[in-house]
Amino acid sequence: MHVAHLSLADFRSYARAEVPLDPGVTAFVGPNGQGKTNLVEAIGYVATLGSHRVATDAPLIRLGAERAVVRTSILRTSSSGDARTTLVELEITPGKANRARINRSDNVRPRDVLGLLRTVLFAPEDLSLVKGDPGERRRFLDELLTARTPRLAGVRQDYERVLKQRNALLKTAAAARRAGGGRGADLSTLEVWDGHLARAGAELTAFRLQLVAALQPLVAQAYEQLAPGGGETVLEYRSSFEGERPGSREEAEQQLLAALEDVRAQEIARGLTLVGPHRDELGLRLGPLPAKGYASHGESWSYALALRLASYELLRSDGGEPVLILDDVFAELDARRRDRLAELVAGAEQVLVTAAVPEDVPKALAGARFAVADGDVTRLV
Ligand SMILES: Nc1ncnc2c1ncn2[C@@H]1O[C@H](COP(=O)(O)OP(=O)(O)OP(=O)(O)O)[C@@H](O)[C@H]1O
Ligand SMILES: [Mg+2]
Repeated sequence: MHVAHLSLADFRSYARAEVPLDPGVTAFVGPNGQGKTNLVEAIGYVATLGSHRVATDAPLIRLGAERAVVRTSILRTSSSGDARTTLVELEITPGKANRARINRSDNVRPRDVLGLLRTVLFAPEDLSLVKGDPGERRRFLDELLTARTPRLAGVRQDYERVLKQRNALLKTAAAARRAGGGRGADLSTLEVWDGHLARAGAELTAFRLQLVAALQPLVAQAYEQLAPGGGETVLEYRSSFEGERPGSREEAEQQLLAALEDVRAQEIARGLTLVGPHRDELGLRLGPLPAKGYASHGESWSYALALRLASYELLRSDGGEPVLILDDVFAELDARRRDRLAELVAGAEQVLVTAAVPEDVPKALAGARFAVADGDVTRLV
C-alpha cells in the first residue's frame, strides 16, 4: 500500500498543507524545525491513532486552533492487480474523542481506521525501545499487534479500563483498611473485576507471546544484516508473575486469575494491580547480556533498527506491504549501517524519509524530493 495524498489542516505547525505522494522513495529535506517530522507524524497518526513523539493530542493542534484535521488517501493494490483507494479523515480535538470518516462516511468509530494504513516508523526516539522503561517495549508490541489484528485495539482499551477501575477499587480498600474499618471495602466486587481483568489480560498476553515468537528470528536476521557478526539477539517475554508459559488463551486466563489471588493481600495493602500484561516486560538480550544497561550506543541503535525492520518484514508477510517512514535516522548512523539500512528498505513500495540536509539521504534512496521550509512543502524532483 502507499499514501497517495496527505492533507493537513491546523496540524502542528501547518495551517494547511497538501502533499501529493508517489510510490517509491520520497525525501522531505529542510532545515531544523521546519515541519518535516510533523508531516510524517501525521501519517503515523492515521496508522496508529497516536503520535510517536507525544502521549497526548494537545501538542498536535496548531497553536491557537481548536482542532486538527488529517486526511490521507491510501492506495492499495490487490494481488490480482486492482487498485483501491481509501480516504481516511481524522478530526483531532484534545480532551475529546476523535472523529473519523472513511470514504466520506462518518458512520464509523475512530478505531475502525486502524488497519487501513499500516506504517513502520523509524525515529530517533526508537533508541528508547532498547534503553527506556519496559512501557516503551510494551507499547512497541501492542502497536504492532494492533496493526496486524485491529480488533485488539478494543481488547487493549478494555484492559486499560478494567485496570483503572480495579486500581480505584483497591485504593479504596487500602484506604479503608488504613482507617481501621475492619474488613473495609466490599471485596466481592473485586472478584468480578478479577474476572474481567483476566479475560482481557489473557488475550493480550497470548497475542504478545505469539508475536514475540514470530519476531524473534526476524530480529536476529535484521541485526545480523545491520551489524554482521555483532552477536546474537534474543527476545524474552517476561511475565509479571512466576509460572509456566501458557499454551493457550484459556491457560493464560487461569494463570492470571491464580496470580491475582496470590498477590491479593499485597495489592490491597498497596492499592495497585501488581500482575498482568501492564507489568510484563519484553527482555532484549544481545549475546549473554541484556541490551539495556550493557549494549553500546551503536549496538543499541542497531537493535532498535532491527526491531523496526523485523516489524516491517512481519507486516509484509501477513498482508499488505506497510509504508516505511524513516524520520531523521540516517544522520544518527555511521556510514556502514546507513548504507545497509538503505539497501534493506530501498525495495519497499513506499519509503518516506526526512533529513535536514540532502547528504543525509543515502544514494540507494534516490527518488522524489520535497523542500520543507517556512510552512511550505514544495516538490523539487
Ligand atoms: N502545535 C503546534 N503549533 C504550532 N507550531 C508547532 C506545534 N507543534 C510543533 N510546532 C512547531 O513545529 C516545528 C517542529 O517541526 P518538526 O518537528 O516537524 O521539525 P523538523 O523539520 O522535523 O526539524 P528537525 O530537522 O529538527 O527534526 C517547531 O518549530 C515547533 O515550534
Ligand atoms: Mg524532525
